[in-house]
Amino acid sequence: MAIREVLRMGAPLLWRVAEPVSDFHDPELQALLDDMFDTMAALNGAGLAAPQIGVSKRVVVFGIDKNPRYPDMEPVPTTILINPVLEPLGDIMEDGWEGCLSVPGLRGRVPRHTHLRYSGFDQHGAHFQREVHGFHARVVQHECDHLDGILYPMRIKDMRDFGFQKELFGEESGKE
Ligand code: NI
Repeated sequence: MAIREVLRMGAPLLWRVAEPVSDFHDPELQALLDDMFDTMAALNGAGLAAPQIGVSKRVVVFGIDKNPRYPDMEPVPTTILINPVLEPLGDIMEDGWEGCLSVPGLRGRVPRHTHLRYSGFDQHGAHFQREVHGFHARVVQHECDHLDGILYPMRIKDMRDFGFQKELFGEESGKE
């Protein structure tokens, strides 16, 4: 287990389309997941995709506990999602602010589908499916974009809705 260096925007690996996981018994998969959770926790992230730590595999982790400092932030269950498939439910999109450990210190307003069905595999190779909305749906879309080489700034419609956390909101800290 280790805290890994997070690649930042500009690193070529972040633009790559990541490869699906084929072997769920590979001990490297468990080691990768351990490192992803360690890194996410150390950097106060809401989610992390494997390419962000330099591994071009279709693996994401995310989860947000209820935090009294951010009462508007709905909790999201701690989830391991491998080889994900996303299916928007309906056409409704909603703008919301996002950050990313690969784009540190910045925030941008990004449109995302409000309702979503997603499916994929857990760390044991068991298939599961969920229907989610709101912040949970936003987090999944953000993390899975990383697997297709997309960072959230690429989805911002008005670049005035992109800036430094401190200038936008007057505080340095917050979930990335
Ligand atoms: Ni991100």
